[in-house]
Amino acid sequence: MSHIPDEKLFTFSNRVKGKVVIITGAANGIGKETALRFASYGAKIVIGDLDIAGANKVVEEIERTGGSAVALKCNVTDFDQQVEMFELAMKKYGSVDIVVPNAGVSEVGVFQKLQFKNGRPVKPNMLTVEVNLFGPLYTAHLALHYLQINKKEGDLKSLIFIGSMASWAGIPGGEMYSGSKHAILGVMRALHPIMELKGIRVGTIHPFFADTAIVPTPVKLLLAGIPLTPVSRVAGAIFYAATDVDEDSNGSAWLLLDDGPVFQVPKEQFKEGVYKMIDERANKGRAALKGAQAWIRFFRDIWRITGKTVITTSIAAGLAKVVYDNRATIEHALRTAIAN
Ligand SMILES: NC(=O)c1ccc[n+]([C@@H]2O[C@H](COP(=O)([O-])OP(=O)(O)OC[C@H]3O[C@@H](n4cnc5c(N)ncnc54)[C@H](O)[C@@H]3O)[C@@H](O)[C@H]2O)c1
Repeated sequence: MSHIPDEKLFTFSNRVKGKVVIITGAANGIGKETALRFASYGAKIVIGDLDIAGANKVVEEIERTGGSAVALKCNVTDFDQQVEMFELAMKKYGSVDIVVPNAGVSEVGVFQKLQFKNGRPVKPNMLTVEVNLFGPLYTAHLALHYLQINKKEGDLKSLIFIGSMASWAGIPGGEMYSGSKHAILGVMRALHPIMELKGIRVGTIHPFFADTAIVPTPVKLLLAGIPLTPVSRVAGAIFYAATDVDEDSNGSAWLLLDDGPVFQVPKEQFKEGVYKMIDERANKGRAALKGAQAWIRFFRDIWRITGKTVITTSIAAGLAKVVYDNRATIEHALRTAIAN
């Protein structure tokens, strides 16, 4: 398994000049960063997002720096709206070259708990699966057609899916998220042999947690102190997977396990080694989360047992110690302030 250092992620940037890139969910987060990076190397960008105000801002940002982009309001769970997105690309730019089904949501609803209405079980909310699996499936289904229109031998054509660490390891409480992200890896692997014959690159990008709006605040708090994956590196991984000239890397999974570099998992190695590696990283993460939870429980119990007074007194004592240890500096600052 090789790794791609940051400085190599945009090695093949000359391949995207003038190319047309469709990215769903590019009004924010990873998609936005990816759109900006592709545009900075001369690609024309088509954004489909529910958040049309955000998408329009990205278009403005691209145009301000001399690039070209267009956005439309598109709910990826609606096939017809996705057709409009591809048609817009064809109408405005005459081609579709790179497609990134990126739009996603985190776990919506609580899968583990059956809800009841008038004593009868209620059907669970499946929005997570609809957005994270049906959405990319619609995008891919359309991409396979549109990527081949006017395609000539040697043209760069790519379809890069966004998986997650949850494509390999299940997130407890994120059953629908994990299920849809596991499925995305399966979709890419199923498509790869035929796409390779057609000269279309496919791949999946698997980031660990990155600091975007999709990560719920309680999870961000739990992750405090654990290095996250930089959003810019995720965008770089998407760029590299889409543009790499090495035909052997077609069909690869690209892992961003923590704040370290991008790993390429060649298709032959999917079953070897990588599961062990993910397992080790996941176990380390789980141990860190358990540690964080233990500290939260500890402080909650102290709070419960002693009440506000002890915590407030401890903070006051801590502040007093800081002031005492720095008394000379503070005295000097005060004298200077009074003198002036
Ligand atoms: N941030 C992370 O920690 C992380 C980790 C692994 C994978 N991912 C994946 O990266 C992708 C991008 O997520 P992000 O982190 O940038 O989150 P984000 O919330 O910043 O961006 C998601 C975008 O998708 C759009 N969107 C949501 N539902 C939509 C719908 N039905 N139709 C159209 N657009 C819709 C949102 O408006 C938003 O612009 C997702 O597929 C996510 O699962 C993120």
